[in-house]
Amino acid sequence: MPEQEQRQGLNLRFWRRDLAVDLGTANTLIYIPRQGVVLQEPSVVAVRNGTLVAAGKKAHRMLGRTPAGIRAIKPLQGGVIADYELTRKMIEYFIGRVLKRFPFLRLRIIITVPYGTTQVERRAVLSAGKRSGIKETYLIEEPIAAAIGSGLPVAEPRGIFVVNFGGGVTEIAVISLGGIVLARSLRQGGETVDETIQRYLLRRYRMEIGLSVAEEAKRKAGYAADPPQKLSYIFRGINLRRRLPDTLEIQAEELSEAIAPVLSTIAGAVQGIFEKIPPQLAADVMQDGLLLVGGGALLPNIDLYLSRKINLPVRRVEDPFTCVVRGASMALQYLERLELQHN
Ligand SMILES: Nc1ncnc2c1ncn2[C@@H]1O[C@H](COP(=O)(O)OP(=O)(O)OP(=O)(O)O)[C@@H](O)[C@H]1O
Ligand SMILES: [Mg+2]
Repeated sequence: MPEQEQRQGLNLRFWRRDLAVDLGTANTLIYIPRQGVVLQEPSVVAVRNGTLVAAGKKAHRMLGRTPAGIRAIKPLQGGVIADYELTRKMIEYFIGRVLKRFPFLRLRIIITVPYGTTQVERRAVLSAGKRSGIKETYLIEEPIAAAIGSGLPVAEPRGIFVVNFGGGVTEIAVISLGGIVLARSLRQGGETVDETIQRYLLRRYRMEIGLSVAEEAKRKAGYAADPPQKLSYIFRGINLRRRLPDTLEIQAEELSEAIAPVLSTIAGAVQGIFEKIPPQLAADVMQDGLLLVGGGALLPNIDLYLSRKINLPVRRVEDPFTCVVRGASMALQYLERLELQHN
């Protein structure tokens, strides 16, 4: 390479910064090449008179606990952006925190979008990037990023079966040659499991609990299959019969039955996609099994549950939370092979 070109390449590298953002219903993650995951925060903002006063963990703690004048809001719902202005402010806030004063004009960013995102929604994300003054914004579908992040050769002609069990959505996708061959996005995820627990306690015991209590119960005792005999969870909430704060002990087995309907919907959708896979790709999938990513992959025994239901080996990735953002960051390195939408 001539010396001048080499110098230009180097300059370009110093001049530009790459950043990957996994914008999820539950969590937002930022990844910087060679640094790794630099931010992992709940996708929540706190707003006073239209001005953002907190974001991430601090705002998450305020959910359901805000005084008059402050609102804690989740700008993404069911995997899609419910409030564009707040989402943009939240991303700007997070990027500003990890990059300090680095100018947005010198950024190239890649943002993950769920498979089910419409063209209108995609264009809105791209124009939000532009409005923030970011030089180039690329979009990547979450299942593809997940497969790349877990080290699979997505660009090859070989079928890859991925389930991304997120907070607000579950995406089921078959990938080959760098693209999605077949997919389905269900607006149900880990948060639906929490809501199901919340509703169950209300209906069965007239006990009202907060969503974060339901989420904790799920993580500690929400077995998808084979709940341990002696495990239980003690709920704290309001007993509506007596109108007083109260506790209630529930066995893991009962919790497992309570969440079964959500899991069965998800398993049914996975089965539905599996039945539609073209034969050549089905052969690959039967050999390699199903790849499970997303925070929901941490639900105890979910891999066992799915493998029994669909009769396929299920592999839960090592880092279900971060593999999507890492994959997105890796995708920036071979853009020419992926044909990603960008501005
Ligand atoms: N140990 C655990 N057991 C069960 N579920 C868990 C565990 N840890 C986290 N989760 C769930 O994972 C979900 C969040 O996953 P993730 O961060 O992948 O979602 P997201 O990317 O923000 O959402 P989406 O992709 O749907 O927009 C939450 O519903 C959370 O309750
Ligand atoms: Mg996600």
